[in-house]
Amino acid sequence: MLQTRSTSITQHIDQLRGQINEALSSFVQFDQDCPERLREAIRYSLLGSGKRLRPALVLMAAEACGGDATAAMPAACAVEMVHAYSLVHDDLPAMDDDDLRRGRPTCHKQFDEATAILAGDALLALAFQTLAENVRPPDVAAECCATLARAAGASALVGGQADDLAGTQGATAGLPSSADGTSDLLDSLQHIHARKTGAMFIASLRLGGLAAGANAEQLEALEAFGRALGLAFQITDDLLDVRGDEAALGKRVQKDSGRGKLTFPGLLGIEESRRRAEQLIDEAIQAVNIFGPAASNLEALARFVLERNR
Ligand code: IPE
Ligand code: IPE
Ligand code: MG
Ligand code: MG
Ligand code: MG
Repeated sequence: MLQTRSTSITQHIDQLRGQINEALSSFVQFDQDCPERLREAIRYSLLGSGKRLRPALVLMAAEACGGDATAAMPAACAVEMVHAYSLVHDDLPAMDDDDLRRGRPTCHKQFDEATAILAGDALLALAFQTLAENVRPPDVAAECCATLARAAGASALVGGQADDLAGTQGATAGLPSSADGTSDLLDSLQHIHARKTGAMFIASLRLGGLAAGANAEQLEALEAFGRALGLAFQITDDLLDVRGDEAALGKRVQKDSGRGKLTFPGLLGIEESRRRAEQLIDEAIQAVNIFGPAASNLEALARFVLERNR
């Protein structure tokens, strides 16, 4: 049973990925004022073999609210642009210092560090240009820009990345400590994951809802789904770093503990981390009950996150 369900959601995501990749490619055709090497680095980072889960979530959220995929596609692409930028910068020597991403050399290895930093900068700007120029009507475009900016910003993705690195470098000054060290660390870890990863999941769901004209109750349900799924996703990312296969993942494994990262398996062990991810997926699925069968793809994608090997 499970296998059938996960096979069909995999096929559905494959199909969406094709449409998303085509749309992404159409947004990275630059004029002659964009230097050739920069253009190549941007396209290399954005159009590589990512899973496209966040843009798929945008499209599925729109679907749950009765909207159509075409109207939601620019928002789907904008989310992937921010995500791609965040990966390019995450891999830099000053951050996680990785040399493999999406099965290929990381952007700074393929090009050079300055080009990778600038390609990331350009992708971030392009995300907001894409929303502002393509989402209609203008008040929805403005709300989409605000939503994505909050998720990408200092109190969300960037703040989470900063604290992720602060932990890594032993500069735990910003992290609480007390006699009950584990629960304080768990709170810190959840706060880091909620910002560095969860915020972009919540934004993806909200953008899909906004593009489909969702009401307040629907937006709230989508955000609750995104909150639980985002944390479950980063827990599975932490688990895959311990137990995953480099060839399937397209990135190095067993790096987190070596770099002193605060992770779920590091803090709670593999079994308990897995149990928490399962519980979060149940919570996510419950949150989108209000949509009935229109949320069946969202539910299937949530289950897929638990079974993923990449
Ligand atoms: C990797 O995200 C970064 C995290 C937030 C864990 P994905 O696992 O979605 O990476 P791609 O987009 O498929 O490469
Ligand atoms: C990255 O988390 C989260 C981002 C905001 C990019 P990780 O550092 O764990 O992601 P991977 O494992 O390198 O893909
Ligand atoms: Mg990182
Ligand atoms: Mg990393
Ligand atoms: Mg990781």
